[in-house]
Amino acid sequence: MHAPDTPQPPMGLPPLADRLSSGAAAGLGRKLFFDRRLSVDSSVSCATCHVPIQGFTQYNITTPIGRSGQPLQRNAPTLYNVGYRPHLLADGGAANLAEQIWGPLLNPQEMGNHSQDDLIGRLNQLTEYQLAFTQVFGTEVTQAALEQALREFELTLASADSPFDRWYFEGDDTQMSAAAKRGFFTFMAADCEKCHQMQPGFAHFTDEGFHNTGVEGRSISPAGADAGRATATGILTDTRAFRTPTLRNIALTAPYMHNGTFENLLPVVEYYNQGGSKDPLQHELIRPLDLTADERSDLVSFLTSLTGSNVAQLSRIKP
Ligand code: HEC
Ligand code: HEC
Repeated sequence: MHAPDTPQPPMGLPPLADRLSSGAAAGLGRKLFFDRRLSVDSSVSCATCHVPIQGFTQYNITTPIGRSGQPLQRNAPTLYNVGYRPHLLADGGAANLAEQIWGPLLNPQEMGNHSQDDLIGRLNQLTEYQLAFTQVFGTEVTQAALEQALREFELTLASADSPFDRWYFEGDDTQMSAAAKRGFFTFMAADCEKCHQMQPGFAHFTDEGFHNTGVEGRSISPAGADAGRATATGILTDTRAFRTPTLRNIALTAPYMHNGTFENLLPVVEYYNQGGSKDPLQHELIRPLDLTADERSDLVSFLTSLTGSNVAQLSRIKP
């Protein structure tokens, strides 16, 4: 049950299961999110890889560059609607937002902190954080308070009320183009919705499951192969399966797929249309679709209609 002060979610999404404790905690989390001093040498912040005006991902690059100068293995996913995800990361390897922050904070390739204590100690030497944490949480900077602040900020990034939502859930015809409406029916007919699922009364456009869509298998090179879900479960048939991403705000969150292999939406649709790759573990729904050029372009129009009405507000640069 959510508390009475929980903000209403935008249309097309359910209330968040987790309530927001206070605007103040989210505000502090926002400040932390943008602060490069959270990395060991003050070089990168969370926002370096999850760039707000780039859909909280990085669209100019396949995968972010790590501290050694080498690209990271995976693309930075959008943080829009991340508060709804029951498991995090492309392989589901992180259980919740509080736990997840320590991944980038401690990864030598990402923010490079030597330990939790090291970072917390450094933040406690900054008077502004000492004061802010005391005001919001009544303590100095602690592990739990740091987790809570960043998590609260991430929970504010719920974005929907898109042209699609207004049409589908409210019957408002005026904002959805004819092409986007046709594209929705193609989306259903081509079985996209079997994985990018809608729920009764709202739509996450994901089943929160893990599937092999053949993307990694396009170029299995023994050295670089990403085992995907199998990394988290150890189950052989999960090899090269990745989490079904939400399609909300998809027009803003290029590049696409866990490895950022597609720069634009049309090549994604073309990839599905040709039936994926030759990966022997590929899911049976990924098969040649025989969509016409018009149907493929309608599908892209539909995907583009999933951009939420509040993205400008959520991606504004200053707190
Ligand atoms: C150097 C780039 C980089 C930095 C810095 C970074 N991230 Fe990420 N982030 C990524 C990548 C890459 C992934 C995907 C990893 C994967 O799927 O295995 C990711 C995944 C995530 C996820 C999971 C989202 C989902 O839907 O599963 C969250 C949440 C997240 N990051 C939040 C943060 C926060 C908070 C910070 C700062 C404390 C941060 N990130 C710093 C690159 C970065
Ligand atoms: C078998 C389940 C399944 C079906 C069917 C499916 N998808 Fe996907 N989709 C996925 C998974 C899993 C990924 C992530 C793959 C990866 O990261 O390598 C994905 C990724 C995507 C992405 C990129 C998302 C991002 O943030 O990078 C788009 C766009 C997309 N699918 C659209 C579609 C469309 C359009 C169809 C129908 C033609 C479709 N999907 C059918 C499971 C599916």
